[in-house]
Amino acid sequence: MKALVLSGGKGTRLRPLTFTLAKQLIPVANKPILGYVLDQIAETAIREVGLIIAPDTGQYVKEYIKDGSEWGFKVTYIPQEPLGLAHAVKTAETFLREDSFLMCLGDNLQGQGIKHLVKRFEQEKLDALILLKEVEDPTKFGVAVLNEKREVTKLVEKPQKPPSNLAIVGTYLFSNKVHQAIDRIKPSWRGELEITDALQEMINMGLDVKAEVLESWWLDTGKKDDILSANAKILDEYVKKDVKGDVSDSSLEGRIRVAVGAKINNSTVRGPCVIGKNTLVQDSFIGPYTSIGDDAQIINSTVEYCVILEKALIRDVNRLEESLIGKNAKITKSHKTGAIKLHVGDYSEAEI
Ligand code: TTP
Repeated sequence: MKALVLSGGKGTRLRPLTFTLAKQLIPVANKPILGYVLDQIAETAIREVGLIIAPDTGQYVKEYIKDGSEWGFKVTYIPQEPLGLAHAVKTAETFLREDSFLMCLGDNLQGQGIKHLVKRFEQEKLDALILLKEVEDPTKFGVAVLNEKREVTKLVEKPQKPPSNLAIVGTYLFSNKVHQAIDRIKPSWRGELEITDALQEMINMGLDVKAEVLESWWLDTGKKDDILSANAKILDEYVKKDVKGDVSDSSLEGRIRVAVGAKINNSTVRGPCVIGKNTLVQDSFIGPYTSIGDDAQIINSTVEYCVILEKALIRDVNRLEESLIGKNAKITKSHKTGAIKLHVGDYSEAEI
């Protein structure tokens, strides 16, 4: 069995960060989301991994994963114009050949892992096994209907009138019959070859399509608020107290990871929280659920529930909350009363 990891796409909802970064590389708890996905795949016996990359951001994915040896993988990069998830599978056909495969979205994380799904797929000799999660608003997702035997009977993409509240999570297992199904479907109204349509086609072909309902958490990091929630969840799940940097005249409360070379002076840091290498926190308060990347500076400021990427500077800011700050960004206080001075990139958002 192989794995296909989708790390392409357009990432329009996360602009401007995605102009210079693949969205799967946006860090949560200072590690790219894609890294957690690959960690979960590494827990299975799969070693051959195909990585779908987009023309404009693929280079960043390659720089991060390199030859995949960090995870024990043999990696093949597969460039793809973002024309849908089923189009990604079609583009990967020469890599996948006749093999069954696990497909993961590089920006989706779930708390249950993958190992048991691979086992079930192989034991029951299925043609497709999908993961579902009960959600409050199914109109934003691909949605599945199950019969009393828990077999999938119907699938619809972003339905206006959802037939169930079971959304399709970004983890799938397929036999090679999926390729025949993809050959039979047409692009949707948004011009994409949809994996939901391919799955529906597999059902129409009488193939064995089963589902498992996820009891644990699921994070789909398509937008800013999703990144902040993913960051909070990962900080809660994985961060332990580990202070390697220098701390002076400061109070560190709760689970906080401070990397080598970081300096915390005359400040309060309340966990869960991570502070990157060589980052300076001076005369500040860092509240819970904050991740600060490497080589950043937080000076005379209050920051809470934020993801701040490397080399950012936050100075004299009274209260920065629920914010996602890109690399090398500077947020400083204007000393002219009431004045707001901005120099923001295309598609940036500032809530003042
Ligand atoms: P989406 O989040 O649905 O699409 P997108 O990345 O184009 O984002 P946006 O809607 O903000 O423009 O994609 C889900 C995952 O699949 C994501 O990790 C990107 C990846 N993907 C591909 O690799 N190829 C594709 O053709 C598409 C559509 C997505």
